[in-house]
Amino acid sequence: PLARSFSMTSLSGVLPQWDEEDLPVDDLLLFEVAWEVTNKVGGIYTVIQTKAKITVDEWGENYFMMGPYYEHNFQTQVEACEAPLPAIRGAMDALISNGCQVFFGRWLIEGSPYVLLFDVGGASGNLDRWKGDLWDSCNIGLPSQDHEAGDALILGSLVAWFFKELTDRLGDAPNVIAHFHEWQAGAGLILSRARKIPMATVFTTHATLLGRYLCAGNVDFYNNLGKFDIDREAGERQIYHRYCLERAAVHCAHVFTTVSQITAVEAQHILQRKPDVITPNGLNVKKFSAMHEFQNMHCSSKARIQEFVRGHFYGHLDFNLEKTLYFFIAGRYEFSNKGADLFLEALSRLNYLLRVHKEDVTVVVFFIMPAKTNNFNVESLKGQAIRKQLWDTAQGMKEKFGKRLYEALLKGEIPEMNNILDRDDFSVMKRAIYATQRHTLPPVTTHNMLDDATDPILANVRRIGLFNARSDRVKIVFHPEFLSSTSPLLPMDYEEFVRGCNLGVFPSYYEPWGYTPGECTVMGIPSVTTNLSGFGCFMEEHVSDPAAYGIYVVDRRFRSAHESCSQLTQFMFGFCQQSRRQRIIQRNRTERLSDLLDWRFLGRFYVHARLLALSRAFPDKYEMDPMAPPKGFRYPRPYSVPPSPSASLHSTPHHSDAEDDDDEDEPYDEDEEAERDRMNIKTPFVLGGVPGGR
Ligand code: UDP
Ligand code: G6P
Ligand code: GLC
Repeated sequence: PLARSFSMTSLSGVLPQWDEEDLPVDDLLLFEVAWEVTNKVGGIYTVIQTKAKITVDEWGENYFMMGPYYEHNFQTQVEACEAPLPAIRGAMDALISNGCQVFFGRWLIEGSPYVLLFDVGGASGNLDRWKGDLWDSCNIGLPSQDHEAGDALILGSLVAWFFKELTDRLGDAPNVIAHFHEWQAGAGLILSRARKIPMATVFTTHATLLGRYLCAGNVDFYNNLGKFDIDREAGERQIYHRYCLERAAVHCAHVFTTVSQITAVEAQHILQRKPDVITPNGLNVKKFSAMHEFQNMHCSSKARIQEFVRGHFYGHLDFNLEKTLYFFIAGRYEFSNKGADLFLEALSRLNYLLRVHKEDVTVVVFFIMPAKTNNFNVESLKGQAIRKQLWDTAQGMKEKFGKRLYEALLKGEIPEMNNILDRDDFSVMKRAIYATQRHTLPPVTTHNMLDDATDPILANVRRIGLFNARSDRVKIVFHPEFLSSTSPLLPMDYEEFVRGCNLGVFPSYYEPWGYTPGECTVMGIPSVTTNLSGFGCFMEEHVSDPAAYGIYVVDRRFRSAHESCSQLTQFMFGFCQQSRRQRIIQRNRTERLSDLLDWRFLGRFYVHARLLALSRAFPDKYEMDPMAPPKGFRYPRPYSVPPSPSASLHSTPHHSDAEDDDDEDEPYDEDEEAERDRMNIKTPFVLGGVPGGR
């Protein structure tokens, strides 16, 4: 039997350790299949990419990822090499000799995992035949117009074929574990099981198709979970065949997992199977040797955002950049599922509150959500060009000034400061200033939108009237494209941008996990999440007083939309009232939650799922003890915060005039507080939600 035990030593001294006896990885091969392997779409890519390191640490050369081959991705992200095992080479050759292309290499990310990529487009000639095979094995038919589903079937057919060739060559050892992610990889699992390929299978869903559709359609989803006629709903949305693939994959797997408790409940209703294991999403957390390095990084990244703002708001820079806060929302553009609707409404209220309370704080809010565009707009580019010109003018003047001063000093003179620059120099400066006049307001969007009139963000901006007027304390910048360090406008990658912001706002309505607030957390940036997102629920479950740690959880479950909006507004308004020192302290606290989100801690749930799958697929070889029922674990409230969560923000002395004080900039040393927090822990614990076996 593979034994498990629990002990108290831990990563940070706060988290419980779960010592599971290692899997006999030398006698096993692990494959993980996902559409997003080397292919970035959304959060599943982040799961696969960030988890690679700990999986390679555990499995070494016996771990392989599988996904679709795209030439560009392969050339830019993968180092081709020969597969190490003869059985893998043999299986690949079997496919290749039948006209299908399979590529092998190391994915150039941390951990350098092996990847096996299948050319879906090149195999499309087989689609009709493979549709027939799918129908024969499980009576699911795919309509010809759904190319995405067709591609998923091609990938699945190639993967199942590969596994057949592989296991034929391997015989009884090593045994294979195949872990499939999301419906796009589901066909591979269904076909493998229909063909009775001897391997242990795991299926992880990161959302349910129908759940996502229903929520986007403004349905009161969570109060009606048990009441939907799911087949009919799927049919009406023309996703019946996809939903069948998803549901079949779920039921074929030896072990079914999902990323959060809230999605587990959803899956039980929508997919009709209770997940065996919850596998929360982690991150590959990097610790800096200097405690406060992340604070310095905030400062330098913020300076770059400020540069952008100087350009974008040229001619309207009558707000104090030292007292400007940067908020943002980012992700795939699912307007209401990601909570952009609630956010905009709350921003309109925040703008009002800041104006009536005569706060001198300005909030610049970025919406980073990709939409259809044709490039940057002229006004935005012009803004950056003007800023650059002013910078160059200032540099030129500085040079001249310095040179003339130097020459005067060499002659033993102190020059007359007013005359050191001549008339021409003043003309140059005046011209540069004249160029900053504008007769339009700073633009809301940075790009030319293809659907300008119907775009939901723009439509709502028009409705609430937040047009970046001088009197507005809340300014909006909609950047309808993911960020890139090569952009001429805002040359920063996403991570750098997040580090420079003050608050991430993710008030999602449909969010099985939601990486974006977690990513903020490990970078020490506070964020807003909701109790309808897997991440928000996870934090509420495991952290006492998340708000004190800079995780604001909006209640979207038990309150009306209006009340949720008020709560979000209050969170943001409260945040705006903090002093710089309070924000620094809060960032230190936020960053301390990183360990909880580290794959080194959360990876154990994947280990458990694999073990369970082995014990179900090969019961004679792998046996599993039933697990002790889980007990709750909670991260204690920071020692320095008084017991009432609502008091936590405003209890520390508030000195709003102190923003510019020099001593405000000193990093606050929280070691002592952290130590006291550790001492605060009284009882042994196990992370709640640890799966209890079958
Ligand atoms: N993201 C990104 N660039 C951006 C904005 C977002 O790479 O400009 C990434 C972000 O880091 C996160 C992912 O997109 O890992 C979104 O994942 P999430 O789980 O929040 O949502 P999903 O898109 O899967 O629903
Ligand atoms: C970090 C830096 C400080 C800087 C501060 C700005 O903590 O170490 O030097 O003053 O960030 O914080 P703010 O919340 O105003 O962006
Ligand atoms: C899905 C979900 C998202 C989750 C991601 C990774 O795309 O929408 O909430 O974080 O998968 O599990």
